[in-house]
Formats: sequence, structure tokens, C-alpha cells
Amino acid sequence: MLSTYPDALVLGEGSNVLFTQDLSRAVIIIDIKGIDVVQRTDTFLEVKVAAGENWHDFVLWCLGHDLGGVENLSLIPGKCGAAPIQNIGAYGVELSHVLTSVTCMDRQTLVEHTLDKSECKFGYRDSVFKQAYKDRFVVTSITLRLTTQGHHKKNCSYGAIQDVLSSWSVVDPSIKDISAAVIQIRQSKLPNPRYLPNAGSFFKNPVVDQQTFLSLQERYPDIPSYPIDDKKRKIPAGWLIDKCGWKGVMLDKVGVHAQQALVLVNHGERDGYKIKLLSQLIQKHVAEVFGVDLQGEVNIF
Ligand code: EPU
Repeated sequence: MLSTYPDALVLGEGSNVLFTQDLSRAVIIIDIKGIDVVQRTDTFLEVKVAAGENWHDFVLWCLGHDLGGVENLSLIPGKCGAAPIQNIGAYGVELSHVLTSVTCMDRQTLVEHTLDKSECKFGYRDSVFKQAYKDRFVVTSITLRLTTQGHHKKNCSYGAIQDVLSSWSVVDPSIKDISAAVIQIRQSKLPNPRYLPNAGSFFKNPVVDQQTFLSLQERYPDIPSYPIDDKKRKIPAGWLIDKCGWKGVMLDKVGVHAQQALVLVNHGERDGYKIKLLSQLIQKHVAEVFGVDLQGEVNIF
């Protein structure tokens, strides 16, 4: 297919994509299936997952085999092959914490390559596949190192996970408990794209220098933030958008989700461009109020 349509748009499930116009090029949907164990030790199992496997189904497969490392990433939409492109992350864990390598095909030569984790240059919602290797490769499989029973490194650091587990009186959670908590949190504030079309977080959380953060904190003492290092802090874009009054706002049939201002939703608008316009209005408003630039997280075509 790639040799016939070298400029084709390659998609997994399209869950992080916004179309604003008709495409004149071919679209290839990756549907390669299979999960293979490639290495087994007392403490971990390394599995190679084909790019076309649904991510959440794979998480459920891991839980069913008591394999740990991806439970915090439960219910993220999309396919496994898309996961390394933006280094999916949620609730204190990101794909790069468990990934060992990515196998991908060069779109020009059709030769398969395996990139190890360091070559993938993972960052916050970022990888080499969005930078130097943008549009060069098609991911065919990912290999992950998952902990086996008795060796899990559970991450319940995220406050909302602790709150849900406490409400269930769970003090020593299993990886299935953590997954169930994450699913409950996601279902309470993130709309299911199957019923209310959306692409998850529309923007990345901006990273600002310490001085910018301190001056914002002076004006907004309740501003949430997370340290990146001594010099930088990450601010939740959802909070900035919410503070500007956009949460729950509808413009015609497009709007800002009522439970999470970071998610733009489509209530039946056929023209995807309207979502893009809404996102631009929000970016402009946030820049005016806070002096902070919001970078898009969704792929727009
Ligand atoms: N907040 C508001 N108003 C809102 C939304 C958030 O005040 O409308 C505040 C919250 O109260 C909280 C803070 O912002 O203090 C952070 O909110 P939340 O925990 O919901 O997480 P987030 O930073 O908005 C990120 C990811 C999500 C991921 C969650 C949980 C990005 C761009 N988004 O959102 O990822 O599920 O953390 O880890 O990093 C996605 O990528 O599609 C996605 C949903």
C-alpha cells in the first residue's frame, strides 16, 4: 500500500486527529494484530505488540495476565502504534517508562528499523516521530517491559487516584484496582469519543520559566503547577482555559467540555474547521489574560 500511495496519511484510530477539510490523498488504517512474548525473566516479561492492537484492549490483556506498568494508562483511546508518537501519558505514568523499542517501516525505502528507547527521544507528549523523523516512518510494533506478579512498581502518586482508592477503602491496591480507579476518574471528566466526539486534551500543558510562574502566582495564588526542574514549571492548560470562562461554553455545535476545559467537543458540527476556530479563540484569550502560549496537542489536517 505504501509503495502505491507514498504520500498516504497513516492513521491508527484517528482519535488524536482533527480534519478541517477533505483530503485528496489516500488514508491507510494500520490493522496489524498480535501480541508476542519476546523475553521472560523472574521479574519482567517483554512483549511485542502489533501497531494495530487497540491500546485499552492491550491494557486489559496485561491486567488479565497480571503484568504491570500500563495500568495508569487505562482507557486511553487509539491504537498501540500511535502510542509512541506522542508518548501517551496519564496519572503519573507515560509510555516511555515501560517501552524498550519501536519497530517501524521507512516510508521511502520500505525497510524495517528498530529504534531503541533512547533513539525515540521521548519527552512530554513528544518523540522523534514528531520531530526529526516526522512522516518518515510507519510504526509496525512496540516492545514493552512489563513487571510480573510480586514485582509491580505501582504509581498511586496522583491525588485523584488516592481519593478514589480511599473511597473504596483500598489500602494496598492491586494493578487492577489502580486501573479501575483511573477508569472511574477518566469516565467522570473525559467524554467518551464514541458518544461525544473529541480528541482528548486539545492543548499541551504549557511549561513556563520560574519567573513567569512566580508573577502568575502573585496574580493568581490558586494557580496549580508541577515542577519540571529548578527552572521550569508546568501549568495545567485546563485551569487557564477554565479561568478564562470557557468551560462548558458552546459556539453553535462545537464547545468546551463541561467537566474538563482542556477537551473540545463536537455536538454534531460537520465542519471540523469550526473546532479549529474555537481553539484559536481560546489560544488568543489565554495569551491575553496570562501571557502564556498554548500549543496544540491534536494533529490538524
Ligand atoms: N483544571 C481546572 N479546570 C479544568 C481542568 C483542569 O481547574 O477544566 C485543573 C484541575 O483542577 C487540576 C489541574 O487543572 O488542578 C490538572 O487537571 P487534570 O488532573 O484533569 O489533568 P490535565 O493536566 O488537565 C493531563 C493530560 C491528560 C491526562 C491527565 C491525567 C495533558 C495535555 N493532558 O490533563 O491527558 O489524562 O493529565 O494525567 O497533559 C490527553 O492527552 O488526551 C489527556 C486526556
